[in-house]
Amino acid sequence: MAYTPLLATFSAGTSGAWRIVEMRTLSGPALTAGPRLAVSHDGTVSESAVWSLSGVGSNMRYTTRDEADQLAARQAPLDRAEAIYAALIPISKSAEWWALAQDERRAIYEEQSRHTTIGLEYLPQIARKLHHCRDLGGQFDFLTWFEFAPQHQAAFDAMLLRMRASPEWRYVDHEIDIRLERA
Ligand code: HEM
Repeated sequence: MAYTPLLATFSAGTSGAWRIVEMRTLSGPALTAGPRLAVSHDGTVSESAVWSLSGVGSNMRYTTRDEADQLAARQAPLDRAEAIYAALIPISKSAEWWALAQDERRAIYEEQSRHTTIGLEYLPQIARKLHHCRDLGGQFDFLTWFEFAPQHQAAFDAMLLRMRASPEWRYVDHEIDIRLERA
């Protein structure tokens, strides 16, 4: 089985494999802009970093067997040669969300918002990786990462519009959309 790094550290500064094309704050406080983004899997923060965010891959919380099988059948790996565009979207959810029980969160996430159902429509063109960081105590709960070819950017943006209009997003209180291109 392919090795998937557990820890990911994203640092914005003057070095890194990704050029920061745009940073858009949708809710909550902004992050300082920097020209490049570096990604490491051993905790290294680039020397020039104006900020760094770390998260870990984890088990799935809201995914049924059937959904997991559909995801596995359709998802593409990271690091495809044609996927020269990426998005890092750090997200936090409100205290109200975290006060809900697991079954209530699942109902909002999928039965009301169709997060997985919508997302599946965009596989395999969009490759994704979800990092959790709420338990690490930083300023975000999740660091979401997406990679795609330039011709799929419009589809990616359309998916974001659908997700941000869903009931799940009423609980998102901090979100920054960082667009990247391989340097
Ligand atoms: C969680 C699929 C796009 C943000 C999840 C989960 C799945 C999923 C299956 C649940 C994991 C679990 O069971 O714990 C997809 C697919 C997408 C997609 C197939 C298509 C590319 C997006 C986008 C965003 C996003 C565009 C936002 C920028 C999140 C967040 C979570 C999540 C924040 C964690 C939710 C929570 O635990 O409260 N996604 N997703 N996803 N996704 Fe997506």
